[in-house]
Amino acid sequence: MTTMADRLIEAMTRSAAHQYGQERVDELAHALQCAELAEAAGADEELVLACLLHDVGRYAVDQDTVSDSLAAAAVSPDARRGHHEAGADLIAPHVPARVAFLVRFHTEAKRFLCTTEPGYHATLSPGSKHTLTLQGGLMTRAEVAQAQERPWWPEAIALRRWDDAAKVVGRPTRSLEAWKPLLMKYFGGPPVLR
Ligand SMILES: [Fe+2]
Repeated sequence: MTTMADRLIEAMTRSAAHQYGQERVDELAHALQCAELAEAAGADEELVLACLLHDVGRYAVDQDTVSDSLAAAAVSPDARRGHHEAGADLIAPHVPARVAFLVRFHTEAKRFLCTTEPGYHATLSPGSKHTLTLQGGLMTRAEVAQAQERPWWPEAIALRRWDDAAKVVGRPTRSLEAWKPLLMKYFGGPPVLR
């Protein structure tokens, strides 16, 4: 039987052939760098897993159904879910709510930082600035207040900063193989009712 772990590993393996948006690193390298940055900072297992999978909606989901993919935005005007929502929905049946939350809100964290942190927007890559527009642009004051009240918001911001830093061409990381036990732990069996 094909498990979700098999599906994710296959999709992540294939993602090595895909450029990460308009960045110069590929999707897999970006995911591996993000997970290792979190791990090096002492993040717990769930937060590291969220970092590893935060962009799963970009490569393990049909991109014609994703509204903020650079390619699909033009051809699929009816797509309503951003990659963050598509990815969170995909993994939610297998992971603790906190992991799905962190994946779901990593683009909101970008909108939050662009709105509240002077100079942050200027640090974004051109591709990230472009998708910011597709993802709703700057937050209103009410949206900022609402975000700060969400559970696990500080971790969502932390993930976002590792996400931003995980775009270094050629940075050495462990291979995807090293993450298979973690992926098997959460995705090796049937969905868990939580
Ligand atoms: Fe990312």
